[in-house]
Amino acid sequence: MKQKIKNIELTYLTIDDYQELKRAMIIAYKTIPNPYWEELEIQTLLSKFPEGQIVIKVNGHITGCALSIIIDHEQFEDQHTYKEITGNSTFDTHTQSGDTLYGIDVFIKPEFRGLRLGRRLYDFRKELCEKLNLKGIEFGGRIPNYHKYQDKMSPKTYIERVKSKKILDPVLNFQLSNDFYPVRVLKGYLEGDSASNEYAVLLKWDNIYYEKPCSLGFGAMADASLQGYYRPNAASGILCGHFECIQKRFCFVPRIF
Ligand SMILES: CC(C)(COP(=O)(O)OP(=O)(O)OC[C@H]1O[C@@H](n2cnc3c(N)ncnc32)[C@H](O)[C@@H]1OP(=O)(O)O)[C@@H](O)C(=O)NCCC(=O)NCCS
Repeated sequence: MKQKIKNIELTYLTIDDYQELKRAMIIAYKTIPNPYWEELEIQTLLSKFPEGQIVIKVNGHITGCALSIIIDHEQFEDQHTYKEITGNSTFDTHTQSGDTLYGIDVFIKPEFRGLRLGRRLYDFRKELCEKLNLKGIEFGGRIPNYHKYQDKMSPKTYIERVKSKKILDPVLNFQLSNDFYPVRVLKGYLEGDSASNEYAVLLKWDNIYYEKPCSLGFGAMADASLQGYYRPNAASGILCGHFECIQKRFCFVPRIF
């Protein structure tokens, strides 16, 4: 029986969450070998881009998570693997001067799926992308039901069938219903993801509010401002309070859940 959900909180990931995060990842990615990040890797990610790492908690416990970095789209326009995009888990691929938010992880624990918690994580990512004035969001999305069809059809046909709702894929259906569109098939994307036959779909969402930085110095100014922009409330870390913002142009009031 599903436990009663009394309290849903979207909050920034902190290193104190690590052990619970690790346990949640092991449960969420049952078919993937070594499905969790090491503590040092999470620490690195948090030090590089704390604003991009969020968890969703139900009754005070982690039920899901979304991790992101900022990349330079041109560098990864073509084929790439998960190992490459994460800089072999060093996140050296993250750059504050990049133009694209890249999702490196998203999951909801199995017993909490289908409750639109994943959608909340994606809504946050979209807001973050808009607030940072990035061109869009990308990631390699798994296709975990593909193994059932891999002898009968190509990934391309599979994606078409999922799009036309003739085949159900729990992850690709989720991405499509969150307004992401497939750009290309990525071969050998995630090592050991046998459910997807190591294929992934490069998915994209465009930020329609993106504004090309002005060449008369504003770009550099905005860049400097963004260093201190969008920090979680230092006291609570919870996404329902005040956010520092030097450039008024980028100011916003986050949505309260
Ligand atoms: C993908 C995942 C994060 C979705 O999270 P979720 O909280 O269950 O999804 P939501 O409840 O927010 O669903 C949002 C929409 O996605 C679609 N969707 C979600 N799960 C679906 C499923 N199993 N089958 C078909 N559609 C689905 C629905 O259309 C839903 O629309 P609705 O809001 O109109 O109901 C979750 O299934 C998961 O953790 N999967 C395993 C980890 C994983 O592989 N992550 C992806 C890495 S690329």
